Amino acid sequence: MSVPQQKHWDKATHESKVESFYGSSVDGFGDFHNGYLNFGLWENGLKTYLEAAENMVHRIASLAGVNQNSHLLDIGFGMGTQDVYILQKFNPQQIDGLDVTWKHVEIARDRAARNNCGDRVRFHHGSATEIPFDNETFTSVMSIEAPEHFYTRDKFFGEAYRVLKPNGVLGIADYTLKREPRNVIEKTLLNAVVSLWQVPRENVYSSKSYGERLSKAGFKNIDIKEVGALTIPGYYYEQKRPEVKAELAKIRGFVAGRLGFIIDIILFQAYQRGLIEYILVHAEKK
Ligand SMILES: C[S@@+](CC[C@H](N)C(=O)[O-])C[C@H]1O[C@@H](n2cnc3c(N)ncnc32)[C@H](O)[C@@H]1O
Repeated sequence: MSVPQQKHWDKATHESKVESFYGSSVDGFGDFHNGYLNFGLWENGLKTYLEAAENMVHRIASLAGVNQNSHLLDIGFGMGTQDVYILQKFNPQQIDGLDVTWKHVEIARDRAARNNCGDRVRFHHGSATEIPFDNETFTSVMSIEAPEHFYTRDKFFGEAYRVLKPNGVLGIADYTLKREPRNVIEKTLLNAVVSLWQVPRENVYSSKSYGERLSKAGFKNIDIKEVGALTIPGYYYEQKRPEVKAELAKIRGFVAGRLGFIIDIILFQAYQRGLIEYILVHAEKK
């Protein structure tokens, strides 16, 4: 199947909203935090954001079973840094990336070219809910902090299952609902997270329901670990550092920089109140 170049999302689609969210004020952002957008996996005494971000990428590639024989599909690759890292550390045969934000595709392609790996790491514009590849193409599918946005995540589970070869493996970093909000403040907090962050309501459910939905899509040997304590606070304290805030204001402008930090504060508050959880996921197509 041929993979299209730039797609144009209909204004009314969720894809269009997500692309506007990520595509605005992205210029100059590609090298901030070396291009990583993930929250980091702050374990084993890791001190810096870059160490924690690479630890996260390493864990998800491992959960997705990536090795020297793999053909990996990475969905929602952001700035593409994670795929250059995976190529260097895991040496798979081929990586294809798919992202809904055209500017991310351009930035990631440029990064692959600068790292001389454009032949083995290819970045495409498209949506997780309509993956432009044939059935049974990939040995591994992964996604880091992107499935919360997909309209819907269930549709992505079905697509991931379809494009995986038999015995193929899925690895995901994602968010779930820890418990229902109990009062107006908690409802407002959760509503703010969901609407500011472009998360469809259909994707707001528990880790237990997450596992049941993967199972319904056909996946087996499902393992879901809740690791909020190793992810959300570490990222919040990183973003709160005055140097980071100043750098972001310089790159994105004062308003967009502040808006990003407001989302970080709201997310951290929702986590501290026990409303949201962060999960690491492994599942297999048997
Ligand atoms: C929080 S960023 C994470 C980026 C990257 N995985 C990282 O951790 O650095 C979420 C990414 O998912 C992408 N995304 C959101 N919805 C998508 C969809 N339906 N299909 C493909 N990519 C999508 C966004 O464009 C963005 O690049």
